[in-house]
Amino acid sequence: MIIRDVNLETVCGVTSKLPENTLPEFAFAGKSNVGKSSLINALMNRKAYARTSSQPGKTQTINFYNINGALYYVDLPGYGYAKIAVEVKEKWGKMIERYLRNSQMLKMVFLLIDIRHEPSANDKLMYEWIIFNGYHPVIIATKLDKINRSQVQKHVKMVREGLGMEKDGIIIPFSAETKQGRDDIWDLIEGSL
Ligand code: GTP
Ligand code: MG
Repeated sequence: MIIRDVNLETVCGVTSKLPENTLPEFAFAGKSNVGKSSLINALMNRKAYARTSSQPGKTQTINFYNINGALYYVDLPGYGYAKIAVEVKEKWGKMIERYLRNSQMLKMVFLLIDIRHEPSANDKLMYEWIIFNGYHPVIIATKLDKINRSQVQKHVKMVREGLGMEKDGIIIPFSAETKQGRDDIWDLIEGSL
């Protein structure tokens, strides 16, 4: 994909009204610190346009990045971050739910899972919830550079089985460090436009 122009167009907090966009949206979900904002930067060809942090809980709003005036990448807050208050967690959960349930322009949901670890109970819930809402989640197995090349297939299988993925479900190993996997993700996005 050729990135000509990126613009953080809308930032939604828990009480914000979600935008009624007219361009296709591609959303990125996953637990805190899994690499959603880093992936979005890679997909925008930008180093740090989306804020990232080694501390979980960085993205606390739903951020809509307008790409080329043609589509949106939607950066969602992460779930499963232990250190925030239960009420706040519930509000974020509701906000993510509200977005996934109501967006008219949502074309594809990417669910990010750290390739090193077995999916958590929250990951499974999110996976099932995405399907319940009528989407076929595309799984991105993140931080690919952190495991040995010889271990990749084993870990992909672990993620696939851990989520109980459908046979034809897509899983793409990705590294924000090496950008491995980026072209496959761009192809999926462009192919669905
Ligand atoms: P929240 O906004 O808190 O939900 O997190 P996030 O999912 O947006 O994660 P973010 O992109 O901020 O990345 C979290 C940390 O993981 C940062 O320190 C990143 O540099 C690091 N990271 C993300 N992707 C990769 C990757 O592919 N490889 C390596 N080695 N580190 C990564
Ligand atoms: Mg983030």
